[in-house]
Amino acid sequence: MNKTYEVRPEQSVELLKELHILTRDGKMNQDSRRKLKQVYHLFQFIEPLLQAVAEDHPDISLVDHGAGKSYLGFILYDLFFKLVARQGHIWGIETREELVTRSRELATRLGFDGMSFLNLSVADSIESQALPPQIDIVTALHACNTATDDAIRFALARKAHFIVLVPCCQAEVAAELRKTKGAAVGKSALAELWRHPIHTREFGSHLTNVLRCLQLEAHGYQVTVTELVGWEHSMKNELIIASYKNQPRAQAAKRLETLLIETGLEALAERFFTNKPTIAD
Ligand SMILES: C[S@@+](CC[C@H](N)C(=O)[O-])C[C@H]1O[C@@H](n2cnc3c(N)ncnc32)[C@H](O)[C@@H]1O
Repeated sequence: MNKTYEVRPEQSVELLKELHILTRDGKMNQDSRRKLKQVYHLFQFIEPLLQAVAEDHPDISLVDHGAGKSYLGFILYDLFFKLVARQGHIWGIETREELVTRSRELATRLGFDGMSFLNLSVADSIESQALPPQIDIVTALHACNTATDDAIRFALARKAHFIVLVPCCQAEVAAELRKTKGAAVGKSALAELWRHPIHTREFGSHLTNVLRCLQLEAHGYQVTVTELVGWEHSMKNELIIASYKNQPRAQAAKRLETLLIETGLEALAERFFTNKPTIAD
């Protein structure tokens, strides 16, 4: 890892300009150095996963959900795929057509021919035949609301080895807590944790990620939760990394079920307590 946060010789200067990390005239200022530091920080978490897959096979497949301007995909391609995994492929999934078009144009201009962009919702990508049935790594960085949950369903369906999530706000759990909290407060003192409106929102957001972690553990993943410090333009910096160990945990499934019942979220059982979704090969 480059601790001085300078541009590496093999990095694409054109890409760094497109990502506004370097100025139009290729200069590096304090702000650029900060952005580059964030990029390296995120890459530091994903590089070992890419290395682990590359040791098994060079044609690594990675799908990035809610790709936006495909910041993450381009960085991963430039710092890893271009150098180490030329046979690999990155797909960006994004609902905004203009961003898909822009990313396709940029990839063509940079000669990043192992990158594709699909104008699809995450939910629709689960069944899409445009993607291979097995995907090594699934990422979703600030994918809005329930798109992170759909990314988890996608990863389970495509038997991903690794899942990297930085969830965005998820409103669905808080909305359901709001509906059921009257009854919950009557039943248990623990419901005080989400009785006040601001707590309903904050607790809903926290509970969402707890449920996601249990869901992943129930499906055989080992989960680590950490913080993606310093990532720009977001207050939401929880980083969830899941590695498939083929050890479905009955205890996690049981805890997930209990939590859903005790917080009055039975209506969301299908969202979190999914059987493994299947796709036609
Ligand atoms: C906050 S941006 C994050 C972009 C990028 N991942 C990043 O961190 O820089 C979220 C992106 O997800 C896209 N998006 C939201 N819901 C989606 C869905 N259900 N399926 C696919 N893309 C979605 C939005 O259009 C937006 O570009």
